[in-house]
Order: sequence, then structure tokens, then C-alpha cells
Amino acid sequence: MRNQIVAGNWKMNNTTSETEKLLNELEKQTLNKSVKVYVAPAFTQLSQAVRQLEGTPIKVAAQNMNAAASGAHTGEISASMLQGVGVHTVILGHSERRSLYSETNDSLKDKVATALNAEMELIFCFGEELEQRKENNHFEVVRAQLAVLFELPEKAWDQIILAYEPVWAIGTGETASPEQAQEMHAFIRKEIEENYNSSLAEKVVILYGGSVKPSNAQEIFSMKDVDGGLIGGASLKASDFAAIVNAF
Ligand code: PGA
Repeated sequence: MRNQIVAGNWKMNNTTSETEKLLNELEKQTLNKSVKVYVAPAFTQLSQAVRQLEGTPIKVAAQNMNAAASGAHTGEISASMLQGVGVHTVILGHSERRSLYSETNDSLKDKVATALNAEMELIFCFGEELEQRKENNHFEVVRAQLAVLFELPEKAWDQIILAYEPVWAIGTGETASPEQAQEMHAFIRKEIEENYNSSLAEKVVILYGGSVKPSNAQEIFSMKDVDGGLIGGASLKASDFAAIVNAF
């Protein structure tokens, strides 16, 4: 059986005191032990979160990192810097990174390679925009986004978690229907099967992201090929995030 995962992407939210408060509240919640839980605070809050969550099963992930090992990259953070503060998981390719900070399938290829070489786990995000879905191009768009990963050796997939996030559902309150999510997740598994084999396709964890809330999580997570969620807005409130973790 595949891992069930719920990851909270805090985006550019939570100062030091807010992080402490939210994590304190989260630690008080009863969380389904069979679900792997992650939180992804901003860079400046990572070591604080690692320290505070020590001894708990909740893991800390970063929201981004640079492809280079070190050097003249003002404002950027490397894989070894993340690992130095105890972070071994990184979210790559989030749609806001793609749309606001010009990340492309090509530039992501380098980040993926760096993360894999550094033996980090990565949560690789992708998904189509509204126009692309309206034009019925969503499968082609996702296929092109995934092509970044399909050149990798099969072994690399031990470190990869996928997160399908239709851009039109992120932060909009509009969720993909459970059937739309299932249809895309099944397509993704088929793509993995075609590029590798069926046993790998069965093994890869595929999260859904985009306006997941306590009220819709159960329905979405009940879909056969949906293994959990990448949660934005609802991860900022401990009780909502816990309800989503407990929705399996
Ligand atoms: P949302 O964000 O849950 O607020 O829609 C999801 C994400 O951006 O990962």
C-alpha cells in the first residue's frame, strides 16, 4: 500500500511567533498516525520548525531551493543549507514559482537533479491553468511537465512525491471534483507505467492540491489514485489541517 501524505505549504506566511503558535496548536491535535505529515514554512522559519517538531512525527519541508551548490546567487538557498538546518524534503515547481518567478520545465530539471544528488526527497508540483483545461489541453500540459522527471533512472523515484495542482483550483476556493482529480491521477499513473513499468506506477505517491479543506478532503482522498494532499490556506489553521490529515 502506498504512503498517505498530507503536506502543509505555508507559502509566505507566519513570522517566528506565529510559527511557534501554529506548531504548538498542531502538536496538541490528534493526528492519524498512518498519515505522513509535513509542514513547509518559509526559509527563515525552517530551523525553528525543525527544533520545535523534534521528537514528533511531523516532518519539515522547504518551499524551494536553488539548483546551484553555492556561489553568486544573491537571495537564494542551496540544498546543503537546507540539510544543514535539518530539512531533507523540498517542494519544487509550485505553480506560484512557475507563474511569479519564471520557473520553467527546463529550470526545474536542474533543481530536480540537484535535490536528487543531495539525496533529498522532493515534492514535485505541476498542473494546468484554466485556459488549458478549457481548451482540453490539460493532459498534454501535465505530460510535458512530467517529462522533466521521465528522463530519470527508476531508482530516483524513491525520492519523488508528485503533487498535481490544477492552477485554477489553487487559493481560489474552487476545487477539482473528486472525479476530475481521479481522472488526472489515473492518467499520471498510466504515464509512469508507459515510461517505466506498472510496479513503479503503483508505488508513486500522488497528492492532490488546490483548495482542499476539511469539508472536501475525505471525498478527494477516497479516490483510488489520490494518496493525499498538498494544502495551502487550510494548513494555516491547526484544527483545519488536522481535520484534513484525519480525513482518510
Ligand atoms: P490552497 O493552495 O490549498 O490554498 O489552494 C494549495 C497549494 O498552493 O499548494
